[in-house]
Amino acid sequence: MSANYETRGDVAVITLDNPPVNGLGLATRRGIVAGLESAQADPAIKAIVLTGAGKAFSGGADIREFGKPEALAEPNLLSVIAVVEGSAKPVVAAIHSVAMGGGLELALGCHYRVTAPGAQVAMPEVKIGLVPGAGGTQRLPRVLGVENALNLIVSGEPVKSELLAQLPGQQLFQKVIDGDLLEGALTYARSIADARPLPRVRDLKVTHPNADAYFQFARNTVKAVARHYPAPPRCVDCVEQSLKLKFDDGMRYERDAFVSLMLTPECKALRHAFFAERAASKIPDVPADTPLRPIRKLAVIGAGTMGGGISMNFLNAGLPVVILETKQEALDRGVATIRKNYEAQVKKGKLKDDKYQQRMALLSTTLRYDDLKDADMVIEAVFEDMDVKEKVFRTLDEVMKPGAILATNTSTLDVDRIAAFTKRPQDVIGTHFFSPANVMKLLEVVRGKATAKDVLATVMDLGKKIRKTCVVSGVCDGFIGNRMIEQYSRQAGFLLEEGCTPEQVDKAIERFGFAMGPFRMGDLAGNDVGWYIRKRRYVEKPDLRYSKTADLLCEMGRFGQKTGAGWYDYHAGKRDAIPSPVVVKMIEDHRKSLGITPRRISDDEIVHRLVYSLVNEGAKIVEEGIALRASDIDMVYLTGYGFPVWRGGPMCYADTVGLFNVVQAMKRFAANPHDDAGFWQPAPLLARLAAEGKTFS
Ligand code: NAI
Repeated sequence: MSANYETRGDVAVITLDNPPVNGLGLATRRGIVAGLESAQADPAIKAIVLTGAGKAFSGGADIREFGKPEALAEPNLLSVIAVVEGSAKPVVAAIHSVAMGGGLELALGCHYRVTAPGAQVAMPEVKIGLVPGAGGTQRLPRVLGVENALNLIVSGEPVKSELLAQLPGQQLFQKVIDGDLLEGALTYARSIADARPLPRVRDLKVTHPNADAYFQFARNTVKAVARHYPAPPRCVDCVEQSLKLKFDDGMRYERDAFVSLMLTPECKALRHAFFAERAASKIPDVPADTPLRPIRKLAVIGAGTMGGGISMNFLNAGLPVVILETKQEALDRGVATIRKNYEAQVKKGKLKDDKYQQRMALLSTTLRYDDLKDADMVIEAVFEDMDVKEKVFRTLDEVMKPGAILATNTSTLDVDRIAAFTKRPQDVIGTHFFSPANVMKLLEVVRGKATAKDVLATVMDLGKKIRKTCVVSGVCDGFIGNRMIEQYSRQAGFLLEEGCTPEQVDKAIERFGFAMGPFRMGDLAGNDVGWYIRKRRYVEKPDLRYSKTADLLCEMGRFGQKTGAGWYDYHAGKRDAIPSPVVVKMIEDHRKSLGITPRRISDDEIVHRLVYSLVNEGAKIVEEGIALRASDIDMVYLTGYGFPVWRGGPMCYADTVGLFNVVQAMKRFAANPHDDAGFWQPAPLLARLAAEGKTFS
């Protein structure tokens, strides 16, 4: 039973006990009902307190039950709430720490609610593409008023209980209890034990002085922000019906909205992303209880673009960092950039000045390796050059204390080779941050052949502490994300050769939902970066076909925003991408030189060629074991490459389209004489799943 029952004199106490957050799984739901029945049957009991053990009142549905029959088994949450509300003896919810989603709905079914200050109160269903499904949209407006309730429901964001308790006219909380919550709740329960009739939230009236105008305004505002998401406007509809319909009809309306949203691709994608994020932290052969190495101090080698951003992550988390460079000027420049970043945050009011000073006080700089001796972990972010990395790692091997973790931020080099420069390859790992490293959520954690399990576990844990989404990648060229983006870029190049302009390609994929198309992205990151990589890499693969347009662009000195010109033109100081006639002419000339007659290419074809090139490479990455699971690839693309969240990532999107259809489209692309037939050879895993009618998930 994951709810406990005890009596305290004339009050019964039911305590939800389903760690970590008292999710309302079947056993817990049964426990609540059993507790209520015991209390009804005991003539000595006059009132009931419902509370939660440990870290929460209740975090809502038990996510371990999602998609399983237990989730729907009786008593389901609606039935439990009906039992609570129908209790002949008053039920007082004693809320602390967390009351979210179903947990809050359960509390709203109680006759009274008391709270400890500081409890996080939220209806987060909208974040996974749903409306609350157990009366939240009907009961919350009754206790908080339409506007406050809608704000909570449509944002999904938590609000502190004591702030809600201060709202004029609110009936969510009857009392804020400062001292011992349970003692306070018992006293409160005794004070109302004899009061009749028992107050039920469902009996309260919802009113608004200007309902029609308000809901029209709310709907317009929400639609403008929600754009690709169907759930937020449905939240508005449901709350509106709490005012217009009788309670039971409103409940039915909410249920219909919940069920129909559940079937939308957006909801499926958001739920997929929610579970994919949790799955990514699990590594099958590294148990969750693997002992971690303590990380109390970090060292970073290189104070350039990445070194500075990487350091900020740890300063933000309160960990001291020492940065090493070869020259004082480079250190000064790096520290000045960190300061500038923090000062911008202070200016915008996002960071308090004293916090900024605290963070800077944790930062030190050095030119001597000797000063790294006491660091528990070092992250190398020097030039992307194997010879430079070799020198750095040989030196680190000499100076770092035994057991220190040696990480490299390399984006393209072989982590196993780097590890082999040391006598302790088990301590070497890749930490591939994305730029700007202090902003981007994604961290690819690159597991080398020799990387020790506790090193991997420690880095995953550290990644969580600095609030990154960590995804494990094996060693290969480009790891997960960049290896896939290479195929996407090749396809984008072929599209230019066949008749597209950079603008047409960018617009099509941006309409699909990418934050930025490949050409605007190239201009932002610097087209020269890819140019150098191609020069090195394509020498090793002379047979690999790719479009030379990007090389021609770089030969024109058009490296992107930093040179004021790339695939697009830029006005000084502005980031607006202006289509460039010079570039269009360059592409046309190149096309002519290849003897290609341009054709009109539809947006659909553009999108599918780009996205399926990711999917096909992704399938290879899963099959080779470079990624642990397809959903890890989705996490990489959602958090590092601006893939539209409501589509769930490339692999989830392919599942939604149907792998059979994906393979059919690839066969059509392969028949195109200007594309590369080899490119569209379906990866064995993809071909197999498509043939068997299966999905990646
Ligand atoms: P950067 O050129 O901005 O910075 C490199 C810094 O390392 C410079 O300040 C340089 O003075 C310093 N340095 C060079 N040799 C050194 C040595 N022997 N000892 C100490 N310091 C030395 O380069 P960036 O962009 O920061 O890249 C660093 C690493 O991060 C590279 O491996 C790169 O591939 C990787 N990376 C870069 C990303 C980006 O978007 N820029 C993204 C992900 C990884």
